[in-house]
Amino acid sequence: MRTFVVVSHTAPLDGEFSLTDLPGGAGRLDILCRCAVETFLVSHGIRKDARLYLVIRDVLVITLDGERLRHLNPDERSTAALLRRALSQGQDLAPGETRKSTSGISVWRAGLAEVLRSLKEEGSDLILLDEGGVPLPQARLPVRSAFIMSDHREFEPEELALVEKLPRVCVGPRWLHGHQCITLVHSELDQREAGWTSGLD
Ligand SMILES: C[S@@+](CC[C@H](N)C(=O)[O-])C[C@H]1O[C@@H](n2cnc3c(N)ncnc32)[C@H](O)[C@@H]1O
Repeated sequence: MRTFVVVSHTAPLDGEFSLTDLPGGAGRLDILCRCAVETFLVSHGIRKDARLYLVIRDVLVITLDGERLRHLNPDERSTAALLRRALSQGQDLAPGETRKSTSGISVWRAGLAEVLRSLKEEGSDLILLDEGGVPLPQARLPVRSAFIMSDHREFEPEELALVEKLPRVCVGPRWLHGHQCITLVHSELDQREAGWTSGLD
């Protein structure tokens, strides 16, 4: 299972936004859409062994699970429509409560701390994607790795406190967009699984 956690500081907490203005009125929801597409879609297929947690403003978490995910297409607009539906479903959730949205997508009233705790409890190894980390080809990448990254903004101090002691991995010498990091991590893990390189635990 490959898990990605993307921390969003600006995406909406409800479904009251237009699908025609994702970078503006929808608070850079386009970033989260690209991360979803890169996490799950391959040419004519879906990665069933992938999961994505979108942590929105430390209030709501949209979880996408490749095993059951349906209706995800490569375009940002239809992906945003799936996320908008989940956000609408998340309106009256009590803290800690989860609700199913469309197939493979659910919404949880929680923040980064709860996501990291739940991943640790299920035995995932948490890895911070960071330019100061071990270069990806040399990194230890356990089978149940969860890769954590921010959106277009820096982590807030409270978020940094949760992730700063985690092992760090750098995907390349250039500072990239989050969805590009996801593609590179998948590619590295694909190569290790295919026996092209060693290192998969
Ligand atoms: C677009 S970057 C963050 C931009 C940053 N907050 C800023 O304002 O300059 C999104 C995420 O991608 C990851 N990232 C980008 N380049 C990376 C690299 N070369 N190695 C590892 N992670 C990287 C980091 O986790 C970062 O939080």
